[in-house]
Amino acid sequence: NQELIHHRNILFPGFTNDLLKIKTMKLRPDDTFIIGYPKSGTTWTEEIVWLVENNLDYDKSLKTSHFERVLFLDKEPIIKIDQLPAPRVLKSHLPLEYLPDDIAKFCKVIYIMRNPKDVLVSYFSFVKWLKDLEFSGTLEDIVEHFSKNKILYGDWCDHVNKYFSNPDVLFICYEDLLEKQMETVKKIVEFLGKKKTDEEIEKLIEFTSFHKMKTNKSFGMIPKDWNEFIDKFDFKLFFRKGQIGNWVSHFTEKMSDFVDEIVKQKINPKIKVRYLPLKES
Ligand code: A3P
Repeated sequence: NQELIHHRNILFPGFTNDLLKIKTMKLRPDDTFIIGYPKSGTTWTEEIVWLVENNLDYDKSLKTSHFERVLFLDKEPIIKIDQLPAPRVLKSHLPLEYLPDDIAKFCKVIYIMRNPKDVLVSYFSFVKWLKDLEFSGTLEDIVEHFSKNKILYGDWCDHVNKYFSNPDVLFICYEDLLEKQMETVKKIVEFLGKKKTDEEIEKLIEFTSFHKMKTNKSFGMIPKDWNEFIDKFDFKLFFRKGQIGNWVSHFTEKMSDFVDEIVKQKINPKIKVRYLPLKES
């Protein structure tokens, strides 16, 4: 097991690359970075973006490992990232200040935010499998960690606020990607400078739907060294429920009020966080 990394009061997984190497990495103008706090729908956004960037090559999406097509910047050797053919689609969970300066001016950065209660339930279900965390607590413990900045990749409000405040970043929400799909995918396509017809976008939405992705074998083709940090890897771990408001079945009222209070105090008031499906909110 690798030790967790503590840096400036932020906790990173033990597998994290040399942070300085990331900060000084060579950017290319045709790079696209997909960033999100863990469990916010990053994998889903990556797949949509990879397909848009690669001429909707569904065949390749099914036949080649997602994790080799979209490299995980925080973990993969920088040399491998340097050698990835253009256009690179890279995934990261890092707070903005850990990425190269002016990254969103040089290349495209898409940030996905998800409501923190669903993030915490998803995170709780996932961290049990991470070897270096050795976590055996309850969801209530995770909510406590949320208030004490002990969740991987730091404070959720800080993470979101910084990307939101950068005018060059395309900021999207998991909830909109699920419920206002056409509109949100169109925003992504336009941001990437591509043109797709409504029919093409409808097919893309269908191909990247929760149930389709859950059975897409490319997510089961994991890099060899992943078994070092994930216990009994099963790619279904990445596709658990795929819903808005699943937290309602797991949170007590006290836990919910606690998260509301923290978010109210720290989040940029311009950010609209949606906790429930549209028809219920
Ligand atoms: P749940 O655990 O709530 O189901 P990340 O990729 O950032 O780790 O985020 C994982 C979350 O995104 C999981 O949430 C997962 O189910 C959800 N997800 C992945 N693909 C999805 C899709 N195509 N549609 C909706 N949700 C998806």
